[in-house]
Amino acid sequence: MPAKIMNGTKLAQEILQDISKRVQERLGMGKRIPGLAIVLVGSDPASKIYVSKKCSASHKVGVTTRLYDLPVTTMQVQLLNLITQLNNDKSIDGILVQLPLPTTIDRSVVMEHISPCKDVDGFHPYNVGRLCNRAPTLLRPCTPRGIMTLLEHYQLNVCRLNAVVVGASNIVGRPMSLELLLAGCTTIIAHRFTQNLQYFVSQADLLVVAVGKPRFIPGHWIKLGAIVVDIGINRLLNGKIVGDIEFEQAAHRAAWITPVPGGVGPMTIATLMQNTLYVCEQNDKNIDLL
Ligand code: GUN
Repeated sequence: MPAKIMNGTKLAQEILQDISKRVQERLGMGKRIPGLAIVLVGSDPASKIYVSKKCSASHKVGVTTRLYDLPVTTMQVQLLNLITQLNNDKSIDGILVQLPLPTTIDRSVVMEHISPCKDVDGFHPYNVGRLCNRAPTLLRPCTPRGIMTLLEHYQLNVCRLNAVVVGASNIVGRPMSLELLLAGCTTIIAHRFTQNLQYFVSQADLLVVAVGKPRFIPGHWIKLGAIVVDIGINRLLNGKIVGDIEFEQAAHRAAWITPVPGGVGPMTIATLMQNTLYVCEQNDKNIDLL
């Protein structure tokens, strides 16, 4: 029997509608509208698309967005100065610096310069550390959190499952493995040096793949009845968008699967909006997240 689809587009729409309602309620109560600063350095085509999707979601829910579209020649010190300004700006709740950054800029220095209280991407070591330590209130990386929300929505209890995350990036693989550990999975992270990847993938009750290579995981590797989450968004030469997993073949073996497009991508954006509203609500109460 073909797998059931986890529809990220539909759930993300519901989440965005709820956020929009809450933003309107804030307006009605004379409260501040959440503000999000998005910083793009350079003109990476994929980043431009992601940033425009983030801006349009913000617009849709009524979050005020300030977009800084900076040239590739921007110096690290200029970017850090901008972040200092945004850290001190009371009308800005969230700061997002789109990755990757040009190679002339040290990404870790930039991530650590963003106030952990405005870190709606959840990439600051303070927030990653809290996720690692099971600390309760914090900003969590959007893609992994969005995936957990999707799994919860479909009432898929992942506790005790053998989970395999393929890809160990700071943006997705590492925080994803922490979310799954927190949810009670026995988690393995496979990466570029992993030997016999097929062995690990074929053991996975829950498989999450984020490698950025079109159809990298053959469908016949998937364990029968597995839950399969595909984070890849790859554009083929013919313009078609495909994931990191062979979808058709995988869907014949899995119990549940995310499509590409329409699976994880919209959930990342919906979670970013949730994080932004969350910070704004904490700011109302003068709660310092630190
Ligand atoms: N590049 C790819 N995904 C992301 C993301 O979720 N946040 C940021 N800031 N950059 C990214």
